[in-house]
This record gives sequence, structure tokens and C-alpha cells, in this order.
Amino acid sequence: MGRWWSGSVGYEIYPRSFADANDDGYGDLEGLRLRLPYLEWLGVDAIWLAPFYSSPGFDHGYDVSHYCEVNPIHGDLDDFDRLVADAHDRGLRVVVDIVPNHSSSHHRWFQQARESRDSPYRDYYIWKDPARDGGPPNNWVSHFGGPAWTLDEASGQYWCHLFLPEQPDLNWTNPAVREEFDGILRFWCDRGADGFRIDVAHGLMKDPEFRDNPQRVPITDPENPAEVFGAYDHLHDLDQDATTDIYRRWNRVIEPYDAILIGETNPRTIDRVARYVEGDGLHTIFYLEPVWMSWKPVELLDKLEAMNRASDTGVSWVIDNHDASRSATLFGGGVDGQHRSLAMMTFMCALGGFPFLWEGQELGLHDAQLETTNLEDPISTRNEHGIGRDVTRTVMPWDTTHANGFSATAEPWLVAPDRPLEETVAGQKGDPDSWLNKHRELLSVRKSLPDLWQGKPQWFAAPRGNARALRRGDTIAVANLGQAAMEFELPPGSWEVRYDSRGTATGDRLAGPATVAAEATYLLSLR
Ligand code: BGC
Repeated sequence: MGRWWSGSVGYEIYPRSFADANDDGYGDLEGLRLRLPYLEWLGVDAIWLAPFYSSPGFDHGYDVSHYCEVNPIHGDLDDFDRLVADAHDRGLRVVVDIVPNHSSSHHRWFQQARESRDSPYRDYYIWKDPARDGGPPNNWVSHFGGPAWTLDEASGQYWCHLFLPEQPDLNWTNPAVREEFDGILRFWCDRGADGFRIDVAHGLMKDPEFRDNPQRVPITDPENPAEVFGAYDHLHDLDQDATTDIYRRWNRVIEPYDAILIGETNPRTIDRVARYVEGDGLHTIFYLEPVWMSWKPVELLDKLEAMNRASDTGVSWVIDNHDASRSATLFGGGVDGQHRSLAMMTFMCALGGFPFLWEGQELGLHDAQLETTNLEDPISTRNEHGIGRDVTRTVMPWDTTHANGFSATAEPWLVAPDRPLEETVAGQKGDPDSWLNKHRELLSVRKSLPDLWQGKPQWFAAPRGNARALRRGDTIAVANLGQAAMEFELPPGSWEVRYDSRGTATGDRLAGPATVAAEATYLLSLR
């Protein structure tokens, strides 16, 4: 018997943008609970909630000021309990986010750490003396722009922050920090959480000597945080060998609860991924490259295959999340982008592991069009040329009432034009050919074919390039991401197309050389 997530598909929810029951413009846990029937109907098995904890909101919740409290804009602990109980009654698991790399600068640990060098909390964070010239102690840069160090004038030392200065990095060499987090994990498991999505899971340990990162390429636009961050080899600030020890410890903490640990990891190379999920550490890791890539089918398929070969059960596959442009936009926009997004998702449903959808992906949504004056993401608001993440974070379009049914009368926290009927749940639910129903059908077909996740993966030697095929037990997944139809030689037997992301071949019986439509993925089973 596999663990509960074997064969499951998850759904990421950004609580701020999902559903606003108390009509204050911020989504809340009660609003989300009221929408559970939709998620049950869609056929997902688990929901992952982005942070809903107390937070001043500099990074919209990824700056946590109390790890065991609910931010009042999202509700309270009773709302959480009700949500979990209702979800469990419907057979849905609840995975919560945990943010261990950094806290908020408003957390009492940091406030006390700043008060004096002798505070017992000082060593909860990473402090360093200035370099000889008085500048930051090394050349590390923040993901969100500028150096990864800010000077605390009072003590004359710098604190480390791989994100905003308001997100000081915790010191994971300190046993007290490890104990605090053991308690936080138990707290949420005791309240019924079924697992954790671990934010920046690869970031916790740092190089003991805090050496400079080597620079790989020159920087052309110092105002573009993504370019600056990408210009370095992150040898010393991320993905340190000792980080996986922390997850072995966490695994022991959560084991009695049958909970899952899903790491948001971005290891330097694919062969480093297995270290996180082998043995008794994390159960799966999010593989994020497809979330940021534009439409480059050959490269995408090469990476997917390499990743599946590195770990068949340890990957949470995603093409969309709250940190990037929507896949339908990134993959070329228009209807083509929507078809490509579904073709990719379909193939990911055959790659083992625990795939996730992101809210609105099932509607085939493109990025929202936002006025620059309405941007909220610190990547945009604190940098001249920052390409922010707001485009994917606008409210979930339920229907065509006020604010697409997100709130009754309040203006949503992130102001954007309403979406038309055809982009809403209400507009798509009754149409069997809608993106919504195509995604729903995909989840149902995956569930009906356990070989798709349990069968031993056997990659076919051909096709290559922008097409790939994989057999697992009595199922085959063929992705043809090229622009022309392709012929694929099926193994002996009669094969039924159980799902076709284009929708034209479903139900066909095929044998021998079979034609696979352009930019489509077929899931077939042996009759
Ligand atoms: C989260 C982001 C967040 C960052 C800092 C990420 O990986 O997904 O949304 O801004 O961590 O916590």
C-alpha cells in the first residue's frame, strides 16, 4: 500500500485571492471552506494553502510574524479547524505552507534579537560584522533585489536575508531554532494538517564560512533582481549538503501523523534532487523549472525525462504556481498557450509523484492585465525593472457578479479588471468542452488508471526531440509537442486513447503505427 499521496493530485490555493466570505477584500479560510464543494467536484485529492499566518504582509504572508496564529485578515484558528474538518469529511487532505528559511522582522524573535547582542534570540538569526570597507560581509544578493545583507546600525552588524530585509534568515545551526520548528510542525499536525509545503526548502543551511558566490556572467541590468540573482552560482547560500539533515529530523516529527513533507527546492542540478527525497527526508519536491520556462518543448521534455529518471515518486510536478506567469501565457498565449499548458499537465500526470494544479489553471487562464499603479508584489514595487508575480495572483474568477464572485461588495486587495463569463467557473462548468471540464476529465482518467503512477516507468527510445513517450504497466503516455502530427509505433496490442489533451481522439482504438495530433498528449491503455 502506498502512502495517501500516491495517485493524488493537489491544488494550490492562495488564500488571499480565493474567496472572501467576510467581504473585506482579502480571501479567508471561511470563504475557502465554502468553496470546497467545487474542489471536490473538480476531483483534486489535496489542497495546499499558501501562508495564512500572522504577518505584516511585506511578502503577502511569506513573512511570518507568528507561526501558530492565523492572520486576522484570513480568519482565526477556529476557521482553520472548521476548514480541515469539512475538507476531511469530503476526502480532501490539507497541506499547509511552512516558512522556515526566514521569519518576519516583526516576529518577536527578531525584535528581541535586535534589542541586544546578548539576547537569547540573537543567535536565532544570522549576524555578521561588516567587511573591511564597512560594506556587507559577502557578495550574496537577495532574490528580491539588492544585497542579502542589511546593517543594523545599533549593533553595527549586518543581518542576512535571502529575500526582503523584512524577512531575516533564521540560523539553522542553532539547536533552539530546530526545536522551535519541531513544535510548529506538531502544532499544525495536531490540528489536523496533512503535511507541509516547505518554502525555500533548499535555503536553510548556509556555507559555514560565508564565502562569496562565484559570478557566472556579467550583469547588464542591475535593477532587474532576477537577472542579478541568476548571474551568480549559488554555491554558498543555497542547496548546502547539511540541509537534508533537517528534513530527516522533520520526518521523524511528522511520521506519527502520516503527514507529507513537500519541499520547494531548486537544487543546482537535477542529480542533487534525489538527495532530498531519498531515504527518510522529504517525500516529494516541487520541480520548478517548467514554471518559469517559456515554450521550449525540447528543453522542457529533456528536463522532465531527466527529472523522472532521477526520481519517479519524489516529484511534485507543476507548470503553474503563485510565483510565475501563468503557463497559458508563458507558453505562447491565446488558445495555443492553453493547449500547450494542458498537454504539459497531461504528460505530468503520467510521470509518477504528486502533481499540483494552481488555482485558475483549470480554467485555462492567462495572466491578468494590471495597471502598474495597482501592483502589490515587492519585486515590482521595490525595483525599477522587476517583473512581478501579481499577474497570476488576481482573484479566482467564480462568476460575473461583483469582483468575479470573490467578494460581495469589497474591492479585492489586488485590483484587476473583471474576467469575462467564459473565463469563470460559472461560464465553464456546464460546457463539456471547456478547459475546466478537460482538466476535470484528466484527473478522473488519472485516477482510473493506477498504472499511470504505479507502473514501472519505461521511456521509449523514440520519439525524441519535441516528442516523448513513456510506458508504465499497461498504460502509455505520448506527448507530441511539435507543430505537426506525428506517427508513433505502439507496442503490440490494441490500445485505447483514454485521454487526449486536444479532445479529438479520446475513445479511439489504436494499434501499430498511430497518429498523434500536434501539440497534444495522449494517455492510452491496453485493451
Ligand atoms: C515563495 C514566494 C516567496 C519566497 C520567500 C518562495 O519560494 O513561493 O512566494 O516570496 O519564497 O518566502
